[in-house]
Amino acid sequence: MVNPSLPEVPAGDALRPYDLRCEHRGTPLGIGTPVPRLSWRLASDRRGDAQDAYRIRVHSRGALVWDSGWVEGQDVSADYGGAPLASFTRYTWRVETRPGGAAESWFETGVMHQDEWVAAWIGHDPETEPPFEPPTDEGEPRSARTAGLPAPRYFRRVLDLPPVTAVRIACTARGLYELRVNGHRVGDGELTPGWTDYRQRVPYQVYDVTDLAGDGPLCVAAILADGWWSGSLGWDMRQQAQRYGRRPQLLVQLVAEHENGSRTVVGTDGRWRESTGPLRHADLLMGEWYDARLEQPGWDLPGFDDSSWAPAGVVDTAHDVLVPSAAEPVRVTQDLVPVDVRPGDGRTIVDLGQNIAGRVRLVVRGAPAGARITLRHGEALDDDGGLYTANLRSAEATDHYVAAGAPVETFEPRFTVHGFRYVEVSGHTDVEVVGRVMHSDTPVAGEFSCSDDMVRRLMSNIRWSQRGNFVSVPTDCPQRDERLGWTADAQVFLPTACYNADVAAFFTDWLADLRCAQTAEGAVPDVVPHVMTERHGTPGWGDAATVVPWHLYRVYGDERVLRDSLPSMRRWVDHVERHNPDLIWRNRTGSHYGDWLQAGVRTSREVMATAYFALSAELTSKAAAVVGDVAASAHYAGLRSRIGDAFVRAFVSADGRVTGDTQTGYLLALAHGLIPEPLVPAAVGHLVADLEDRGRRLTTGFAGVGLLGPVLSAHGHHDLAYSLLHDDRYPSWGYSIKRGATTIWERWDGWTEEGGFGPVAMNSFNHYALGSVGAWLYGGVAGIGQEEGSVGFRRPLIRPLPGGRLRWAAASYDTPLGRLGSQWEVEGDTLRLEVRIPPGAEATVHVPTTDPASVRESGTPVTGEAVGGALACRVASGRYEFTAAWAR
Ligand code: BGC
Repeated sequence: MVNPSLPEVPAGDALRPYDLRCEHRGTPLGIGTPVPRLSWRLASDRRGDAQDAYRIRVHSRGALVWDSGWVEGQDVSADYGGAPLASFTRYTWRVETRPGGAAESWFETGVMHQDEWVAAWIGHDPETEPPFEPPTDEGEPRSARTAGLPAPRYFRRVLDLPPVTAVRIACTARGLYELRVNGHRVGDGELTPGWTDYRQRVPYQVYDVTDLAGDGPLCVAAILADGWWSGSLGWDMRQQAQRYGRRPQLLVQLVAEHENGSRTVVGTDGRWRESTGPLRHADLLMGEWYDARLEQPGWDLPGFDDSSWAPAGVVDTAHDVLVPSAAEPVRVTQDLVPVDVRPGDGRTIVDLGQNIAGRVRLVVRGAPAGARITLRHGEALDDDGGLYTANLRSAEATDHYVAAGAPVETFEPRFTVHGFRYVEVSGHTDVEVVGRVMHSDTPVAGEFSCSDDMVRRLMSNIRWSQRGNFVSVPTDCPQRDERLGWTADAQVFLPTACYNADVAAFFTDWLADLRCAQTAEGAVPDVVPHVMTERHGTPGWGDAATVVPWHLYRVYGDERVLRDSLPSMRRWVDHVERHNPDLIWRNRTGSHYGDWLQAGVRTSREVMATAYFALSAELTSKAAAVVGDVAASAHYAGLRSRIGDAFVRAFVSADGRVTGDTQTGYLLALAHGLIPEPLVPAAVGHLVADLEDRGRRLTTGFAGVGLLGPVLSAHGHHDLAYSLLHDDRYPSWGYSIKRGATTIWERWDGWTEEGGFGPVAMNSFNHYALGSVGAWLYGGVAGIGQEEGSVGFRRPLIRPLPGGRLRWAAASYDTPLGRLGSQWEVEGDTLRLEVRIPPGAEATVHVPTTDPASVRESGTPVTGEAVGGALACRVASGRYEFTAAWAR
């Protein structure tokens, strides 16, 4: 199992700031906001340590540009408050804490004022070059989509600059780019500039290329491909390609500093030259076609003769769409060596042992010039051991490499990504393959483990599905012709995602696209970025507009996400209310998918929709309160209460039944406080009875599945929650694991004994929504969470749930304050619990025990309050070791 582990926290007896961040990122280049947010975490092993005050000083070019002075209090973030930031400038910043230490970091700005852009969008005039027609072998089906599309273009320009002391490049594309300087690839981002709502925001990246610039002329070069801009996107054949534009375009702006302090600024323009090259075709869904015979050695070096290249066409100079890239780029984060290589009649099947999103690096030995080596990718093998690709639908996921005839050749595609575990290599047998794992490089934030193999595998599968589907935007799946930012998938998985990784920057950026996509009426589309104009306003999908900002705020404590999102949250709730004046959401339900992919039942669509309506009204009220809009907060609180009344009148019977009588119906109603208090035990009883009547089997789909653990354990039914967790009959997580799943399946019946593979029209083996149980593994089983009303884990709640087959469980999580941890183990009749609370936090720890009087902390009796099978006690920061009596 390959789960990245958490970096060490500085240890020691004194309080220390560490892990400094600017705008939720480590040392970012290209910061564009005039008021960046600076934050830090705290470490100390001394009990009760807390920060009393902090002071930040920011320097640039040797001068102090901001001194916050000593600021009393426990805040671990501050908005920059100094002199206006200059473009393309490095700022070093130092935070000091009292008591304790200091730490230093830096950030760099990008383009601070739109009028500083000089670069034009350049591209290729399609009339001058015939489109790429892939040659086909006899009998080989030819893709309707790859044929006829123009080949990727190569661009270059040589600059003669006076001696430089620093060089930065801001670069982006309407399309995808790879930037090169003096023969070297620049940066380690993949699929740059990433996917956003290009109509309104095109992100640019900033690179420090000082080290690549020697004393002589500087060659700036780039390869440009279609990507999301003009390549295949989604499944809708009518509009899937060229959705944003017909041809990709490049924009590069270079800023060089000279010894005397002056700057040269150069941008893309008609003096750049362009040509085709060995990369004949590149498409995110279809794959790449690379003909090594067409390489032009030195094409990205100053001395190259580009007289046969054409001048680049200037497309336009629209700068208002340019925004600084705000999230971590996609990167290759891991290499996978195959676990099995099976040669067969001219086709070798390579098994990476893990379903991933990414690509392969291929090494070819002894292939004659012109030999075509074909790489097909798939998630599974069919019964005969061949590659199974039916579930990819029209995504070809095929790369072709045409050999140049050198003794050893290496190929790795650049502008495509596949969802796969297996690769079929044909066309040559002496080959070597390494899997390259790609995803948005969100820092690892949490770890979970336990004594049970299957549960560990489940968490591994969840993590791998998160990695495979956070590829610039949160997608549903990485393999078929879809890969879209489905809003419900993102929303239900977000709590799990936040435990696994620091997704603050990733989701904040996505929310900007969500706001761009909202219709004039306030409806939120089913997918963001918005590419399916007709689908919007769907219950549980559109509610991402409220659920995502609120959850990000609670986890990361950054109020700005609410300030930015509140208008959009309000417009969404107002839209639903406007069309449903009796507050039962049955009109304007968009594509209403219900409890998507539920197993064998049908949850009432009105129940689900109205529960989400109540939730969205409530979160909007809370958000307005945080932002200080008292009137709006009261308005939405009133609306929430009226929706609640309407829900009870319409759907809750006098004996606590919820219309439809399904697990998801009860889960939604209970989780969102829609059952009147006196009826709660009865409603819980109906939920439990349904599970028991079915032999402890779940029926939940996307909307209900993540609530099973939390709701059952909140009402004292851990045993039942554990039964579901450990189950391996259909439908369960264990069922897929028994079948060898290494990621979370889209559907409970992705493969069954009776029917084999599930419906090819929709059967992804890497889809995280049903993995939203992960938050309960962290927050329930290991028990790391925060109190209701706590923000940024200021008041952690450690409430582990020993049970099921587990002997022990452990989780660590990097909160904005610092590391939080919980680890329990049952041995004989004793339970041991170790917790770690970050400085400044005030935690409540529920020590599970069958005898509250037996609880000791490092051998000393503990005072607390006995609550439902535990002793609840309050602790300050530090490490604690509890023991308690425990009888199964
Ligand atoms: C996607 C989903 C999505 C759903 C909406 C599917 O095609 O893969 O995960 O939420 O459509 O019904």
